[in-house]
Amino acid sequence: MTQKITIIGFGTVGQGLCEILAGKKKELLEKYNYRYSIVAVCDPRFGTVYNAAGLDMERVIAELRADQKFTTDRYPWDALETIRNSNADVVCELAFTDLKTGEPAMSHCRTAFETGKHIVTSNKGPAALAYAEMKALAGQHNVDFRIEGTVMSGTPVLNLAEGPLAGCSISAVKGILNGTTNYMLSEMEQGLDYTAALEKAQSLGYAEADPTGDVEGYDARAKVTILANVVLGEKLSIDAVDCTGITALTAADIMAAKAENTRWKLIGSITRSKEGLTAYVRPERVPLTHPLAGIMGATNALTLTTDLLGDVTIVGAGAGKTETGFSILSDLLAIHRTETILPDNRL
Ligand SMILES: NC(=O)c1ccc[n+]([C@@H]2O[C@H](COP(=O)([O-])OP(=O)(O)OC[C@H]3O[C@@H](n4cnc5c(N)ncnc54)[C@H](OP(=O)(O)O)[C@@H]3O)[C@@H](O)[C@H]2O)c1
Repeated sequence: MTQKITIIGFGTVGQGLCEILAGKKKELLEKYNYRYSIVAVCDPRFGTVYNAAGLDMERVIAELRADQKFTTDRYPWDALETIRNSNADVVCELAFTDLKTGEPAMSHCRTAFETGKHIVTSNKGPAALAYAEMKALAGQHNVDFRIEGTVMSGTPVLNLAEGPLAGCSISAVKGILNGTTNYMLSEMEQGLDYTAALEKAQSLGYAEADPTGDVEGYDARAKVTILANVVLGEKLSIDAVDCTGITALTAADIMAAKAENTRWKLIGSITRSKEGLTAYVRPERVPLTHPLAGIMGATNALTLTTDLLGDVTIVGAGAGKTETGFSILSDLLAIHRTETILPDNRL
């Protein structure tokens, strides 16, 4: 069966996904018997294109690279109409993240589920604000809500907990979940002050022009909320996560920590104990002997505390065009595997 895909939001991740799919088409077919067809792309900048038999993606990409509106197979549809009207099996929701309302992604997800389409997304909004609702609605319509790319991009932390670690009880997770701030702290240890470290992160594309979401810890807080819901199975709301960013840390703080064989890290943590659930994001001084102390630059890392295996630490990319594009591919393949094994029962 050919998996039919609609892409909503054709920015960095959408383009990364298409490059991977095109580059690995033969390998995906030979190794996994995976066939795909991109039937619709919707983006405010380029317009909406749809072809039930599959778009000519070489043309779509060429027009995008020429920074011009799509010319062929055009439809006057917005994102919701595209999701509703396309014949896709899976909608890749890759529009911007809004951590206050979750929109427009939340409406994109609801519309996909209500019209019998799976969602694969790296957008943190729906998962951080309404995971339980999204999962339940998907389940009611016998489709999936897959969100690997929302935490540590393609580094497979959510699929690790769901797959290889199934059977273990996970009581805590703790890690470095924001690459921008980890990069800045690494640079500050090399002698830059906060402002210079931020400017360098912005010049390299690690930090946005408005860095608030990263430096105040809000991005990491969304990821902690997602981990609590997905990995620990807790119904934790984003407002219940204590959150402090790195804006108050000075070069002197960084050097004082170094002198005592410790290192400041922006830590996201969730612990389940007899007393209840504790979840926070805050800068912590980590001993240099701790595995998280060695994670430098834009890299992310997460330690999962399990009952059967002790601590398991996964280290990898937290962002990037190819890395996050891969997270979408891995979820598309997971849906393909499920449907291949259980063709009459989509979940
Ligand atoms: N890039 C990463 O490394 C990374 C990592 C993890 C998670 N994510 C998440 O993945 C998602 C996509 O990221 P990205 O880097 O690809 O963002 P991006 O480059 O900004 O692309 C988002 C695209 O969505 C379009 N868009 C905006 N509103 C839309 C709507 N209502 N309907 C359809 N398309 C719409 C945007 O168009 P305009 O530009 O015209 O507004 C833009 O082309 C985001 O939610 C992001 O937080 C990204």
